Amino acid sequence: MSKKIMLSGIQPSGNLTIGNYIGAIRQWVALQNDYHNFFMIVDLHALTVPQDPAILRAKTLEVAKLYIASGIDPAQSTIFVQSHVPEHAELSWILSTITKMSELERMTQYKDKALRHKMNVNVGLFSYPVLMATDILLYQTDLVPVGEDQTQHLELTRILARRFNEQFGITFKAPEGYFPKHGARIMGLDNPQAKMSKSSTVPGHAIALLDDAKAVEKKIKRAVTDSGSEIKSGADKPALTNLLTIFSAVTGRAIAALEKEYKGAGYSAFKIDLADTVNAFLKPLQEKYHSLSDKKITSVLEEGARAAHAVAAKTLTDVRKKVGLI
Ligand code: TYM
Repeated sequence: MSKKIMLSGIQPSGNLTIGNYIGAIRQWVALQNDYHNFFMIVDLHALTVPQDPAILRAKTLEVAKLYIASGIDPAQSTIFVQSHVPEHAELSWILSTITKMSELERMTQYKDKALRHKMNVNVGLFSYPVLMATDILLYQTDLVPVGEDQTQHLELTRILARRFNEQFGITFKAPEGYFPKHGARIMGLDNPQAKMSKSSTVPGHAIALLDDAKAVEKKIKRAVTDSGSEIKSGADKPALTNLLTIFSAVTGRAIAALEKEYKGAGYSAFKIDLADTVNAFLKPLQEKYHSLSDKKITSVLEEGARAAHAVAAKTLTDVRKKVGLI
């Protein structure tokens, strides 16, 4: 393998949003020719909050199809389901023995989720970042393109790689994160202070990649705006900054160019154009999605699991030897 390794993943825990696309998948697609790629559907991570088993199964296939529909080429990139490669669970256990409680206690995603799922603050939710570090380290990953909310998890991954290497000899590569300049944190349409989330149940909060044109139009029309009427980004205009970021990401046009074009246009005209633009972006993606059969996707995932397993097994064999397992 002469190319560097890129790896990332998404939980099949809801409807993939335009935030997931802009913050993560878009970068995967843009970089996929330059790297040797692994893209996972992280079903074991999804289990850390309650899931309906039938829905989880369906969403796992849906996410895999959305990867391909968004432009990930299975001939070029390994697409696989995390639980199909059992090495993840085993290495996660080993790495948990070199992870400090205090390192996990300060994870903001854990603190947020523990607040939202008060009745189910389970051990998996707590050790979630160790499994994520495992995902990355098993494949000797160089680059991890993710949204801003994963910064702390990536930092822990680097710490664990270094700690293990110091204790047992060089075994893991410490990966670099890759965050988009714009759009690393897309906010909710209903509330520009809260990250757009695929698991939110608030109507109008998120644009899902599989939303129909009417739903997109309605959500954008109702999206919260800032006081005033200017189409401008800036710290004092969180709602318009967010809408402009989405507009810019799906068209590839600079935010400054959009601000210029919509100077004096008013929110209503801007929103109509934004809805049309988002729908024009989603249409081919959805057509591609619907053209993919379950049979096709199952065979992609089987092939992906084989390819991933070959790499993961090699790393785990080395780790088992180094820590003294016979
Ligand atoms: P998840 O499933 O929450 O999100 C998937 C990816 O989408 C990004 N993202 C966003 N980016 C911009 N704006 C948003 N509103 C937004 N919401 C989500 C996330 O940053 C992420 O890149 N722990 C990870 C999954 C994971 C993983 C890994 C990622 C497990 N193992 C190994 C990389 C490498 C997560 O929960 O992502």
